[in-house]
Amino acid sequence: MPIDKNELRRVMGHFATGVSIITTVSKDGQLFGLTANALTSVSLVPPLLLICVDKSAECYPHFEETKLFTVNVLSADQEDLSRRFATKGENKFHGVSYRIGANGAPILNNVLAYMECRIVATYEGGDHTIYLGEVEEASSLEGQPLLFYRGGYRSIAP
Ligand SMILES: Cc1cc2nc3c(=O)[nH]c(=O)nc-3n(C[C@H](O)[C@H](O)[C@H](O)COP(=O)(O)O)c2cc1C
Repeated sequence: MPIDKNELRRVMGHFATGVSIITTVSKDGQLFGLTANALTSVSLVPPLLLICVDKSAECYPHFEETKLFTVNVLSADQEDLSRRFATKGENKFHGVSYRIGANGAPILNNVLAYMECRIVATYEGGDHTIYLGEVEEASSLEGQPLLFYRGGYRSIAP
């Protein structure tokens, strides 16, 4: 029998991760974003990373439309942004400071790092879709990361 999904989430929660907001844009120019920690560096040459997006996410259809996304890596003081982009609803960007990057997706202000990507392959992943992104632009700042561990937000001990 397959493992219960809540039990799998609990056990996987022991794998500590950073937290990102993945942004994209629809064909008609609407901005979308979701909080995500299913993010993996894949290859340096060529520069590739992957993300996994829930097929039931409201933003999901728009990744296919424009075939681009930007990974915004959150800093320790951006837990409020993480909560906002993990909550379904319109106008996630209302009151949020950002600029539009070279690929057309938003780069949030004061993120620890960002990677602008073009989708080069798509893979079936159960209730998620795996997007392989080629990194076209990337940059980072000094600072502390926001962490996620066992279902809660954490930071690196000083
Ligand atoms: C720490 C954290 C990590 C998450 N990671 C992912 C992820 O990697 N992929 C995903 O599809 N949803 C992930 N989620 C859930 C989405 O952020 C949430 O369901 C979001 O509302 C989906 O976007 P939507 O509002 O467009 O439906 C995560 C949530 C949290 C709090």
